Order: sequence, then structure tokens, then C-alpha cells
Amino acid sequence: MSAPTCTISVIYYSSTGNIAAMADALGEGAAAAGAQVRVRKVRETAPPEAIAYNEKWADFVERTKDDEVATLDDVEWADGIALGSPTRFGGPASQLKAFLDTTGGLWAQNKLVDKVGTSFTSVSTAHGGLESTILAINNHFYHWGSIVLPLGYENPFLLKESGNPYGASFVARKGAGPDEVALTAARMQGERLARVTAWIRAGRQAQAGTESAS
Ligand SMILES: Cc1cc2nc3c(=O)[nH]c(=O)nc-3n(C[C@H](O)[C@H](O)[C@H](O)COP(=O)(O)O)c2cc1C
Repeated sequence: MSAPTCTISVIYYSSTGNIAAMADALGEGAAAAGAQVRVRKVRETAPPEAIAYNEKWADFVERTKDDEVATLDDVEWADGIALGSPTRFGGPASQLKAFLDTTGGLWAQNKLVDKVGTSFTSVSTAHGGLESTILAINNHFYHWGSIVLPLGYENPFLLKESGNPYGASFVARKGAGPDEVALTAARMQGERLARVTAWIRAGRQAQAGTESAS
């Protein structure tokens, strides 16, 4: 097997599984493009009584209780990072934000500079805040000094079918999980993240080699 072209962490929050499924698809796309991939959910912070109130949420928490939880090492290790969250009142979930708010130490050491970052989300209504959530997540990349990577419209599928150049997104109508359109967009986003991140990493390695030789 050839060496991975770059390292990618897919870090997400999900309460009922939509974003979890998209995170897996994005990770698949990145792995297919040659990256070494970690897919990690962030820690649940909601109180048990809030979770118990929603059967789907309680089921998801139970189903994923043994999944690996994101750590700061997953952030530091990755050359490229995809962040995913369901839309909550037009922005990211507090659970993802709580995790991101623990990255100050890495930020202070310039360890987040030049990583490639991209974001994805899910809503329940078509105009319920897909773009505002992705833009709000992306703000973290600006502060980190990372390179913000949109999904774009490179593939005609993204223009004709999924339609959101900001990032893969899914409109969860009638409680059904992500459809093939959303999952395909997520795979494409993972592929693009891995492709561009590999270029950045190769460029950095080439520059380091030139500097050490001179
Ligand atoms: C507290 C709360 C706030 C929400 N806010 C929005 C919203 O602003 N716009 C929207 O379209 N959907 C909203 N939703 C719906 C979720 O974003 C949507 O169901 C999402 O697909 C869930 O993803 P998950 O299965 O990964 O948790 C909200 C849900 C909850 C519980």
C-alpha cells in the first residue's frame, strides 16, 4: 500500500445521526483520495434529561457510546480538518463549539496555521440556515490561520443536484437520514479536502527540504 498523501480529521457533532452519516461519507471520500483519515465525534454536553426527551437523540447516544471522541491530538495531527454540525437556530451546535473552544493552546503555539479546513451541516428546513452555519464554523479557521476550502461547484453534480457550494448539506425532511445526494456531496468534499491538503503538505515538505539543503 502506498503512503498516505496527507492526514485528515473529520470532527463533528450529531444528535440524531444525520451529520454522523455525512461525516463517515466525507471520510470515505478523503480516504479514497489517498488520505489517512480519522472520523471523530465531539463529546456530548447536553444533560441526560434533555437527551431522554427525544427518542432519536437517546437512541443515537446509546448507539455511539463506544465511538472514539475527538481530542486535541486529532486537531494537531491532521493536515486537513472537516468540521460538521447540525444547524441550531442558524448556527453550529454548542457541543462542537465547546470542543473548538478548547483549541486555544494549539492556536497560541501556531499549530493550526496552514491547515486546510472545510465545513458541512444539516438542517430540517431548506432555508433554515445551511450557509450561516457553515460560515460560522469557518470563522474558526480564519482565527486559526487555516486555509478555508469551500466545496464549490467543480463537479456538475454539485451544481445540479446538491446545490450548495459552501459545503455538503442535507435538508432532513420527514425525519429521514441523509439521501444519496447529500452523501455524494460529502464524499466529494472529502475527496477535494484530501486533494488540496496533499498539495499543501507536499509544498511544505518540498520547502522544508530546500531550506535544509541550503
Ligand atoms: C435546538 C434545535 C435547533 C434547531 N435549529 C434549526 C434551524 O435553525 N434550522 C433548521 O433548519 N433546522 C434546525 N434544527 C434541526 C436540525 O438541524 C436537523 O434536524 C439536523 O438534520 C439534525 O442533525 P443530526 O441528526 O446530525 O443531529 C434544530 C434542531 C434542534 C434540536
